[in-house]
Amino acid sequence: MKVLVIGNGGREHALAWKLNESPSVDKIYLAKGNGGTSSFCENVDIDPSDIEGLLKFALKEKIDFTVVGPEDPLCMGIVDKFRENGLKIFGPNKECAKFEKSKEFTKIFLEKYNIPTAKYLSFTDYDKAINSLDKFSYPLVVKADGLCLGKGVLICENKEEAVDALDKIFKERVFGSEGDKVVIEEFLTGEEASLLCLVSNNKLYPLERAKDHKQIYDGDKGPNTGGVGTYSPVKASDELAKNLREVCDKIEEGFDKENLNYSGILFIGFMIEDDKPKVLEFNVRFGDPETEVLMPRLDSDLFELLNKTVDGELKEEDIVWKDDYCLTVIMCSGGYPASYEKGKVIEGIEDTDEDIIIFHNGTKLDKELLTNGGRVLSVTALGKTLKEAREKAYENVEKIHFDGAYYRKDIGTK
Ligand SMILES: Nc1ncnc2c1ncn2[C@@H]1O[C@H](COP(=O)(O)OP(=O)(O)O)[C@@H](O)[C@H]1O
Ligand SMILES: [Mg+2]
Repeated sequence: MKVLVIGNGGREHALAWKLNESPSVDKIYLAKGNGGTSSFCENVDIDPSDIEGLLKFALKEKIDFTVVGPEDPLCMGIVDKFRENGLKIFGPNKECAKFEKSKEFTKIFLEKYNIPTAKYLSFTDYDKAINSLDKFSYPLVVKADGLCLGKGVLICENKEEAVDALDKIFKERVFGSEGDKVVIEEFLTGEEASLLCLVSNNKLYPLERAKDHKQIYDGDKGPNTGGVGTYSPVKASDELAKNLREVCDKIEEGFDKENLNYSGILFIGFMIEDDKPKVLEFNVRFGDPETEVLMPRLDSDLFELLNKTVDGELKEEDIVWKDDYCLTVIMCSGGYPASYEKGKVIEGIEDTDEDIIIFHNGTKLDKELLTNGGRVLSVTALGKTLKEAREKAYENVEKIHFDGAYYRKDIGTK
C-alpha cells in the first residue's frame, strides 16, 4: 500500500512512524513533512491546504490511502474531493468538519442532544452582542466562531474586557470572516481534559486518555501554547468513565438523528468538575501533542485501525494498548508562544538513547537539521511507570541542544 499523510508537525510524524510499522504499508509520502520524516518517508512539497495539488499528486502516484492531520484541509472538504475521485481517505467529510469550523454549529448540536456544555448565546450583530453582556456573570468567554489558530477565545474578567473582545472581533476584524459570528458563553471551572475517539459509521471508540500541558511555564503558568508536553495513560474514576461514555452515547445519537455520516477522529475537549464533564469544543482531527504519546502506546496496527474506520467496520476489540506509560517533553524555540527565531542548528539527537523516540514538530533539513517552528522536537519515552518514562525523557532532552531551547521541567509531575 502507498499511504499519503497530510501535515508537517509532530502529530503527522507520529502517525507516519506508526503507519511505517504496518506490514500492509510499503511506502509513505508526507505533504509536506519536516526534517525528521524524510529518514523513512518521502516528503512531498505540496501545502496541506492545496487540495487540488494533493488530489493531482494522489491520482498520479496511485495513492491507496490518505490520512489527514490538520483541520484546514478537512474543513475545506478534502475528504469529499478525494472520495469523488475514487480515493480512499481517513477523516470526516466537509459537513462533519463543521464541528471544528464553527463553534456555533457545535453548540447548537450539544444543546439539541442534551449534552452538558456552558450556557451560550451567539451573535452576528455587534450591538446585539453588546446588549447581551449584562445577561452574563463574569468572567465570561467570547469566542470567534471560526478557525483562528487557537487564538479566537478570549476570557473576559469584566464588561470592559468583553466590550474590547467584541470590538476586536466585529470592528477591527482581527480574525477576518472567521469572526463573522461570535459565541458568548458562561465561564466553566474545573480541570481541562480531552478524549480522542475513532469514529466509524457514527459510532465512537474512545482511545486511551492523554494529559496535555498547555501553558508555557512550569506549574501551568503563562500564556497558552499548542501544547508543550503530554503523557498517557490517565485513569478516570468509575464515575467519570461512566459520564464520559454517556456523552459519547448522546453524540452517537445526535450523529444518527442529524443523518450525518461521521468517520475519522473526534477530539472532545472537556472541562471536568466533580467527575462531571462539560464539553468545551469538538475538533475533528488527532490532537497534537496527544498523538505523540498515543502512537508509541498503541499495540494494534494503525493502518488496519484507520482502514476499518473508513470502511465503517471498526470494533472495540481492534484497539489494543500497551501497558507502558509514555511521556513527551516538547523542546521549544526561545520566545514561543510569542515571537521566536528559526534556523538554529540542532545538535545531539544522535547521542540520545536507542529507545527514545523523537518526533519532529518544527524542523527542516538543510544540510544540517534546523529549527523551523515554535515547537521543535517531541522527546518521547516509554516506561513501566510514569516516573520511569519521565526520567528517561528528561535525561535525553538534556543531550539535545539548540540556541534558545526551552522546555518545561514539570511534565508529568502533578
Ligand atoms: N466556557 C469556558 N470556560 C472556561 N474556559 C474556557 C471556556 N471555553 C474555552 N475555555 C478555555 O479556552 C481554551 C480554548 O477554547 P476552545 O473552545 O478549546 O477553542 P480553541 O481550541 O479553538 O481555541 C480552552 O482550552 C479553555 O482553556
Ligand atoms: Mg481547544
